[in-house]
Amino acid sequence: MSDNLRSDFPFFSNNPALVYLDNAATTQKVQCVIDAMVDHMTKDNSNIGRSLYPLSSNAEKKVEDARLTAARFINASKEEIIFTKGSTEALNIVSSSVCAENADKGKNVVISVLEHSSNYAPWLRDCKKHNLILRIAENEDDLISFIDENTAIVSVTGMSNVTGFMPDIGRICGYAKQKGALSCIDASQLAAHRSIDVKDIGCDYLCFSSHKLYGPEGVGVLYSKQQDMSHLVPLCLGGGAVDSSYCTKEGHPGFEAGTQNIASIIGFERALKYLIRNYNHIKDTENELSRYLYRKMSELKGFSLVCSEPSLICSFTSSFLSSHDLGVLLGNKGICVRTGSCCAHSLVRKISEGGICRVSLSFYNTKDDIDALISQLEEAQKRYGGSL
Ligand code: ALA
Repeated sequence: MSDNLRSDFPFFSNNPALVYLDNAATTQKVQCVIDAMVDHMTKDNSNIGRSLYPLSSNAEKKVEDARLTAARFINASKEEIIFTKGSTEALNIVSSSVCAENADKGKNVVISVLEHSSNYAPWLRDCKKHNLILRIAENEDDLISFIDENTAIVSVTGMSNVTGFMPDIGRICGYAKQKGALSCIDASQLAAHRSIDVKDIGCDYLCFSSHKLYGPEGVGVLYSKQQDMSHLVPLCLGGGAVDSSYCTKEGHPGFEAGTQNIASIIGFERALKYLIRNYNHIKDTENELSRYLYRKMSELKGFSLVCSEPSLICSFTSSFLSSHDLGVLLGNKGICVRTGSCCAHSLVRKISEGGICRVSLSFYNTKDDIDALISQLEEAQKRYGGSL
């Protein structure tokens, strides 16, 4: 099992009594990430892109190495990697740019009902602002049928943060391309669990956040296929993003205004390398844990599962307790799960007005974690579930 890798995460030795099952919200941080960040801040701290002394050039080299690692992580080139604050900023850049470029032309945007707020709210705002039609598909076949010659862009998640469902993003992007539309993949959940090849997927844009990949908060990646970067307009201008005439620089520098989150970018690189190094182990362990969780959850009385097959993200409702009450009850027993709408309001409203309870796994979880959850749910059922 993942015992070796679990010991790479100091959070667990510091919190031996906690059962952390909220990995879709954020992951724990791996020791090599923490070490790299502390090392940088305590020994090598300097700004980048502004000064010529070696300390600064070394820090800049580390950031550019991180860009190369991020590119390799998704089979892109270094020039196609824009560092952002995370997926939310990345999706806001894509949405505001593509909608402005297609303003008042009778165009549409296609998303799915699975999207969490970061891939929903920007499109709602920007379609309204620039007079585009927003088509929200209920399922993959509808989504394909919504894409037509007037579609400016299709933007979909690679893995739902509520159901764990993974749409066929290769099929979707291929179809978008056939119709002359751009495509954008929100890989916020997917990137931690599946290897990503942007060339295989055939997407124009793709994003992910470091904090869901065992790295620090405040940094993420927007991948833009090189020829598609010209559709994008920076949200923010400032030092590093403009030339001496205040014109926006070409390529990724134009999107990275101001002092970057240097220590976090360095930590992020370590997290990506850690994932790449342990990928096979991670995949096998996570598959085994999802099967175990699904089997155990399916055997419980009084709980309905949202997913119909094993999944790393397993949401459920209870016939006798609200999701809020369940969240508090489990939390008081040291079990961390997410409850409510999980930032996917449209989808969760369709599942249950009262919200859901969500368990999300990582390779560092154990069968004991799952057993502890099941035992508390059984306890709740005995206490509050009456004669179920
Ligand atoms: N999107 C994150 C989640 O699913 C915050 O919890």
